[in-house]
Amino acid sequence: MSAENIEANQEKFVGEHAQKYDNESSFQLGREISRKVLEYPNPSAPAAGSPEALEVAKAQSGSGAFDDTVSAFWDPRTTRVLDFACGTGIISAYLAAYSKQVVGVDIAKDMLDIFNAKVHNQGIPSDEVQGYLLNIFDDEDVAKGNKIVPGGLDNFDAAVTSLAYHHIDDIDQASRALFARLRSGGWVYVVDLSMGPGFKPSAEKDAVVPHHGGFAPETIGNSLRDAGFVDVKEKNIFAASLWATEEYISRFQKHHTTSLTGNDDETKDYKELHGMRIYDEKVEKGVTKYLVKKPMLLVVGKRP
Ligand SMILES: C[S@@+](CC[C@H](N)C(=O)[O-])C[C@H]1O[C@@H](n2cnc3c(N)ncnc32)[C@H](O)[C@@H]1O
Repeated sequence: MSAENIEANQEKFVGEHAQKYDNESSFQLGREISRKVLEYPNPSAPAAGSPEALEVAKAQSGSGAFDDTVSAFWDPRTTRVLDFACGTGIISAYLAAYSKQVVGVDIAKDMLDIFNAKVHNQGIPSDEVQGYLLNIFDDEDVAKGNKIVPGGLDNFDAAVTSLAYHHIDDIDQASRALFARLRSGGWVYVVDLSMGPGFKPSAEKDAVVPHHGGFAPETIGNSLRDAGFVDVKEKNIFAASLWATEEYISRFQKHHTTSLTGNDDETKDYKELHGMRIYDEKVEKGVTKYLVKKPMLLVVGKRP
C-alpha cells in the first residue's frame, strides 16, 4: 500500500468528517454488516446440538443484538477478534458482545478517538475492547502492537474488516497482513461494496478510494486465496437497506454501485438521486430520508 494512499485516508477521516461518521445511516449499515458476519455459518463452529455448541449458546445468551442467530463460532468466553480499519468502532461494538476481546486498528486518529471515547464512556475495560493507532502493513507498528495490545497482535481467532478494502490500493497486501495476524484455523471476514456488472468506475484517480464501486466478489476471493487462505467462500451477496439523507447520498455516491445487484429486471420502481437508486422516501422531523439498498459482499476464508 502506498504512502500516498495511507496519507490520503488519514487526511480524509479527520475532524468534522470523523465526527459525522457516526450517523443513523452508518449505524444501520453497521448493524446489517455485523449481523451478516456474526450469523455466517462458519464451518469451524462446534456442530449444532453438540455439548460444546450448547455451552457457547449459553455464553452468548443475553449478550447482544442478535442472540439465537449468532454462529457458535463466536464464543464470548474465548474469541479474540481483530477489527481491521475499525473506524469509530461501529462493527467492533457488535462483535464485542460475542467475543472475549476486540482489538480495533486504524490509521486515522480522530476515528479512533471516537471509538475509544465510546468504549470508555460505557465503562468497558480496554483489555476487552480498544482501538489502536497502528498500521499493520508496517513491521515496526506490528512489533509495537505486540507490546501494547493485551494478548498481542497475533493469534487472533477472527479478523473482520468492513468497508475498508475499497480504500486500500494494494488489497493483496491487506489480505497477507490479515493472514499473518490470525492463528492457524482462524477466519477472515471481508465485507465491502459489491460491484454490480452495470457499474462503471470513475476514470478519475482517487487516492482515498482506489476502488470506486467496490469489488466483484471473486476479486476479494482470489486475493484471499493468493494470501494463503483456504475454504474461501465469496458468494455471500446481500443488500443492506438503509434510510439516508441527501447529504449522505451525495457524500458517498462515488463509492456505490447504482444498482441493487446489477440485475435490472429486479424492480423498476425506483428513482435516482446523485446516481443512486432510491426505493422510497419519508420525512422525519422535517428531514427527507431516502431508502437506498447497498449491494454488499462478505468473503470469508480460513488460515490453514
Ligand atoms: C469507511 S471507514 C469504515 C470504518 C468501519 N470499519 C465501519 O465499517 O464502520 C474506512 C476506514 O478505513 C480506514 N483505513 C483506510 N486505510 C487503512 C489502512 N491502511 N489501515 C487501517 N485503516 C485504514 C480509515 O481510516 C477509515 O477509518
